[in-house]
Amino acid sequence: GESHVILPYAVIIGMMGAGKTRVGKEVAHMLGLPFADADVEIEREVGMKIPAYFERFGEPAFREVERDLILDMLEDFDGVFSLGGGAPMTPAVQKALALYIERGGKVVYLMADPAEAMERANRGGGRPMLNGDADARWKKLYKERDPVFQRVANAHVRTRGLTPQMAARKVMDML
Ligand code: S3P
Repeated sequence: GESHVILPYAVIIGMMGAGKTRVGKEVAHMLGLPFADADVEIEREVGMKIPAYFERFGEPAFREVERDLILDMLEDFDGVFSLGGGAPMTPAVQKALALYIERGGKVVYLMADPAEAMERANRGGGRPMLNGDADARWKKLYKERDPVFQRVANAHVRTRGLTPQMAARKVMDML
C-alpha cells in the first residue's frame, strides 16, 4: 500500500535558555499543531526528572535515552518539536536531523543573545550541565555547540531583544 511519511513540522534547537520550549509552544499554537518537548517526553519515559536521572545514571545514559526518543519522534510526531540543548551533539541525532532535512524538514536554530540565554538558563534551574560555575559552563558549551548548531540547522533565527511571540513570528517566516 501507499506509505504515509509523518515528520515533525519543525524542529527547534539551541542553547539552554534560548527559549526553545517557550517559542516552540508559541509556533505550534500559531500553526494549530501539537507541541512536544524532548526533555518532557524523556522525563515521562524514565519516570524521573532530568537532574535526578543525571545524578543516578550519568550523562552518557541520558544521551542514549535522549537519542532513542528523538529518533522515534522524528519518525512519527506531527507537530513542533523542541530538542534539549545538548541533543544535536549526538552523532546519531545529527544524522537523523540531516535525513529529516532531506525529507523537507526544518531544523531551526534559535540563536538567542548569549547574555540573555545564560541568564534564563541560570534562573530556570534544573540543568545538571550547568552545575558548578553555571556561567563558565554555559560559555564553554556555547563555544563547542554553536558551530555544530549552525551546521545542522537549515534555518537560523536571532532572537535578541524579542518577546517569545516576536521570536515565534520570526520562526514562522522561515517555515
Ligand atoms: C541539556 C539541556 C537540557 C536538558 C539536559 C541537558 C544540555 O535541555 O536536555 O539538562 O546538555 O544542554 P534545555 O536546553 O531545554 O535546557
